Amino acid sequence: IPVDPFDYIVFGGTGDLAERKLLPALYHRQVDGQIVDPTCIIGVSRAAMSDEEYRTFAHEALKQFIKEPLIDEEVERFLAKLQYVSVDAMSDRGWDDLRNRLDGDPRKKRAYYLAVGPSLFGEIATRLRAHDLITPETRIVVEKPIGRDLESAHALNDVLGEVFDETQTFRIDHYLGKETVQNLMALRFANTLYEPLWNSAHIDHVQITVAESVGLEGRAEYYDKAGAIRDMVQNHLLQLLCLVAMEPPPSMDADSVRDEKLKVLRALEPIGENNVEKLTVRGQYTSGAANGGPVKGYLEELESGESDTETFVAIKAEISNWRWAGVPFYLRTGKRLAKRVSEIVIAFRPVPHSIFGSSAGRMVANKLVMRLQPDEGVKQWIMIKDPGPGGMRLRHVPLDMSFADAFGVRNPDAYERLIMDVIRGNQTLFMRRDEVEAAWQWVDPILKAWTETGQTTQDYTAGTWGPSASIALIERDGRTWHES
Ligand code: BG6
Repeated sequence: IPVDPFDYIVFGGTGDLAERKLLPALYHRQVDGQIVDPTCIIGVSRAAMSDEEYRTFAHEALKQFIKEPLIDEEVERFLAKLQYVSVDAMSDRGWDDLRNRLDGDPRKKRAYYLAVGPSLFGEIATRLRAHDLITPETRIVVEKPIGRDLESAHALNDVLGEVFDETQTFRIDHYLGKETVQNLMALRFANTLYEPLWNSAHIDHVQITVAESVGLEGRAEYYDKAGAIRDMVQNHLLQLLCLVAMEPPPSMDADSVRDEKLKVLRALEPIGENNVEKLTVRGQYTSGAANGGPVKGYLEELESGESDTETFVAIKAEISNWRWAGVPFYLRTGKRLAKRVSEIVIAFRPVPHSIFGSSAGRMVANKLVMRLQPDEGVKQWIMIKDPGPGGMRLRHVPLDMSFADAFGVRNPDAYERLIMDVIRGNQTLFMRRDEVEAAWQWVDPILKAWTETGQTTQDYTAGTWGPSASIALIERDGRTWHES
């Protein structure tokens, strides 16, 4: 369905995110017929550049980052929508030029996408207002990191909140735009099968793994100050945890969903000085092999050559509420792990008693595995009888639903859904201010406890599944990480 024509203004228009994600995503949306004239996309950054040069830049980005063959007429139509304005976020230069390029129609939807560091959020928001660039139909989109702790997140939200109200503010967590993440809601709330079992009476534990095989990818400066808990857990992993654990919202309406997620965040059992060493593992990769070749260790990738920033973290989290008390949520994420795989595993309780005797083989508890990437899909692991006349022997097998095989359609990038939701004004898949702050409220004491207890990172060889302590974290409880 086409959305109304809009103006999309991308600050950081020549940056990495615009190049890799935003321009390709907008192109795909156009090809699918969602972007209609007179839509206008404006790249903004400090450097001087003509519209023509920006179109060349965008064309290169499409060639490099779109896997499917480009369609010439679509490319031409897309590039014709692009403009470029040089604006200095720190001074008054360029803002009037920007206004002159924008459609004066107050009903036209307008989005400012801040694909820039958070230190510029306040400057940009204030100048947008000062230069009369905000209409009633304007929205602002910001990327993480929203702060590096509760206090800084609060300050950032305040700065944005002075200019934009919450309904105009779209905080992106791109994991929420991933197909399988949205499918998690479909699976839970569009079926009667799972919801009656979705509680501590039937679920033994939950695992959320977001493993990456890449290393720093030239982001050392940001990453070394953040580490895995700020980069991935505070946002992506906690969002996934919320979607698994939340109560059924009355509707898909933005606040209904976000209210439920917020309750989960607030029910997370605190981790602090007294239990941090038992419940968390920090790791840092050393040289090894990944993606089919030798790779450097984390410290060798840094200019300074020294750091105790974690590139891996595993956490045993618990949610203190009626539904989940006693069900551990094991979270782990890291760089330079054995392979790129993100999945959510719902491990059900074992049968209370086996009628089959030992000759039938080992009884394995049911598991529901939602694969976010790659090879998006859902597997329901069940026990069946091994076919054949050899007696009652049991086997643990998956009912396997691969989305690519089942639907054979291109799997859209998360940003495609999200950038259009901004124009539609649909905030369901965006984080509300209180959610971001509640997530920091849980993460802050862990960070503080790491410092106070002196819990350092443990080495792991690049290309493995992280430090052995992460395996011990779950095996101590008589469980194992699901093998992808
Ligand atoms: C980003 C992190 O938010 O997510 C990166 O800053 C990480 O460090 C990336 O690599 C992972 O996203 P995806 O979509 O590739 O799983």
